[in-house]
Amino acid sequence: MKIAVLGSGMVGNALATKLVNVGHQVMMGSRTADSKPAQKWQSAAGKGTQIGTFADAAAFGELVLNCTNGANSIAALRQAAEANLRGKILIDIANPLDMSQKPPTLTICNTDSLGEQIQREFLETKVVKALNTVNCKIMVNPELAPGDHNLFICGNDTAAKAKVSEFIARNFGWKRDNWLRLWGVVGSPYFNIRVIHA
Ligand SMILES: NC(=O)c1ccc[n+]([C@@H]2O[C@H](COP(=O)([O-])OP(=O)(O)OC[C@H]3O[C@@H](n4cnc5c(N)ncnc54)[C@H](OP(=O)(O)O)[C@@H]3O)[C@@H](O)[C@H]2O)c1
Repeated sequence: MKIAVLGSGMVGNALATKLVNVGHQVMMGSRTADSKPAQKWQSAAGKGTQIGTFADAAAFGELVLNCTNGANSIAALRQAAEANLRGKILIDIANPLDMSQKPPTLTICNTDSLGEQIQREFLETKVVKALNTVNCKIMVNPELAPGDHNLFICGNDTAAKAKVSEFIARNFGWKRDNWLRLWGVVGSPYFNIRVIHA
């Protein structure tokens, strides 16, 4: 499958590398076509890789992963261009963090979220929020944290969420029943989240 990974940071690197290793064609997108971090990733990842601008990558991908800096994701996706994202699933992994705060705080929260803002702006893209609650090493190697643990898969398109769940299971090794739609999936309102140490 042709996959666009928007973002050349540690998350883009981890996901793009794993996706190449399991046989996908991946284009990493950045603000510029000759981004140094993207070039570095490409020389390490080798065959099956391409790099380009956010727009090049979004046009290339049948599926698009948003691994850009959360404070700048809307700007990055505007550069990717609405026409290149139209009709596609966008897995949104970004967190809008104010890094000047210690610890960093979410700048969009409670009554709104970055995923919802992206969905409101890109109406013809199916935005599915996933993987953003775990470290990027756990995203592609869930067994780093022992035992059963969960991912949240959020969005307003049920079919797109099912496809993303399947994609994450098949490519990143998450157990199929280890994601959560809270009450509906647990089958009871009486549950809690367990934080575990690797
Ligand atoms: N680190 C983790 O384990 C982890 C876990 C969960 C979620 N997340 C989230 O994943 C996302 C990626 O994190 P990261 O640490 O890999 O990378 P990052 O440093 O947060 O973001 C790097 C990417 O953001 C782009 N970017 C930065 N400023 C921009 C601007 N003004 N306009 C457009 N694009 C801009 C960069 O473009 P260029 O390529 O052109 O430089 C680069 O591709 C973040 O939203 C983070 O909160 C991270």
